[in-house]
Amino acid sequence: MKLKMIFWAIVYVSVYIASAFTDIKVCGFCGGVLWILGAVVTLYALALTFISGRTLKKFAHKEPGSGFVPDKFTDKGIYSCMRHPMHLGIGLLPFGLALLSGNMGAILASGWALAAAFWFVLEIEEPEVIESYGQDYINYMQKVPSFKYNLKCLEKGLYGLKQKPPLQENSKVEVTGLEAKHYDRLMDLITFGWYRKFIRQAIGDIGLKDGDKVADFGAGTGRNAVLMREHIGSSGEIVGFEIGKEMKEQFLQKSRAYKNILLAEKSIIEPLKEEEKFDFVFISFVLHGFTKENRQKIIQNAYNLLKKGGTFAILDYNEFDVERAPFIYRFGIKFAECPLAEEFINTDIKKILQEQGFGEFESKTYQKGHIRLLKAKKV
Ligand SMILES: C[S@@+](CC[C@H](N)C(=O)[O-])C[C@H]1O[C@@H](n2cnc3c(N)ncnc32)[C@H](O)[C@@H]1O
Repeated sequence: MKLKMIFWAIVYVSVYIASAFTDIKVCGFCGGVLWILGAVVTLYALALTFISGRTLKKFAHKEPGSGFVPDKFTDKGIYSCMRHPMHLGIGLLPFGLALLSGNMGAILASGWALAAAFWFVLEIEEPEVIESYGQDYINYMQKVPSFKYNLKCLEKGLYGLKQKPPLQENSKVEVTGLEAKHYDRLMDLITFGWYRKFIRQAIGDIGLKDGDKVADFGAGTGRNAVLMREHIGSSGEIVGFEIGKEMKEQFLQKSRAYKNILLAEKSIIEPLKEEEKFDFVFISFVLHGFTKENRQKIIQNAYNLLKKGGTFAILDYNEFDVERAPFIYRFGIKFAECPLAEEFINTDIKKILQEQGFGEFESKTYQKGHIRLLKAKKV
């Protein structure tokens, strides 16, 4: 460790000294180009250093939070993409700063410093690591390159930092606090108003008709219930099943004007008693937040609540390859969504529904196939 610190101190000090002894500065247009390049390299170096530092802290300690020096092998997050992201970051930083300064001496010296850093890592440090971690590390070396200049590695690194086991307690499906209080506004804001139009269209696609009785599982703020009422009229009925405090308050507020929108303060993962009462059970962006076991309980509840021939309408993520999805979906699922969402996307929901007594499927997709309204009949 001491040797490493001395090495990096020499690298940084020599770049600084080179800049102090040279007064050739790149100015004008070329200086501007170097500055922009320097800003990009500096930001990239800082991001690499930060992400790899956090990744080591999260995955490379036998005892979480034990000391600074890693004592456990990891190939998680950014370390699944390259073997030495931290050193790449620390090595690139003086180069980025030198480009920002426009000082020729610093730029030339930082190039050598970077080469020296690579040599140090591969020739001095890596043999030590092989000795510590043995065959695991040798196998890893065969699969993963030492350095990789690729923004996707930063992305993978970010996802690694967010990675949590797909357990119910890590789910974000029970929306609470400020997020719950401003849920509708937030949804409209982060989707630039798209969600408002989309949810109206999707509810229109369920096929509700005058007089239908609907159970809305995880009803949220009541926005969906009010939209559904436009289709079922005053002779139908909507029962929203909701347990979130802030959501229940908004549901009651929004549905105040309608006698046929009711709130059931019941959890959809507990057995529900209202048997064979409903024509439709609707569940919108809720099912992906539950584990396989809880999903089955919810599907069972939907089955029990529906009349024979009734429809279970699931509006949620479709099945798709998250790794190959456009950046916006990949980032949304891997970074913003709860860890259960990806598992849901990889699950054959129709098969599970079939096993639990549903059939006659119909589906409609939105957003280039990434969102689906799946309708299944109780047969
Ligand atoms: C992502 S929000 C979706 C809300 C609404 N369906 C929509 O499309 O706007 C998930 C909702 O499910 C509710 N929820 C979570 N777990 C629940 C449970 N066990 N029983 C009933 N509702 C639940 C949350 O309180 C939250 O309102």
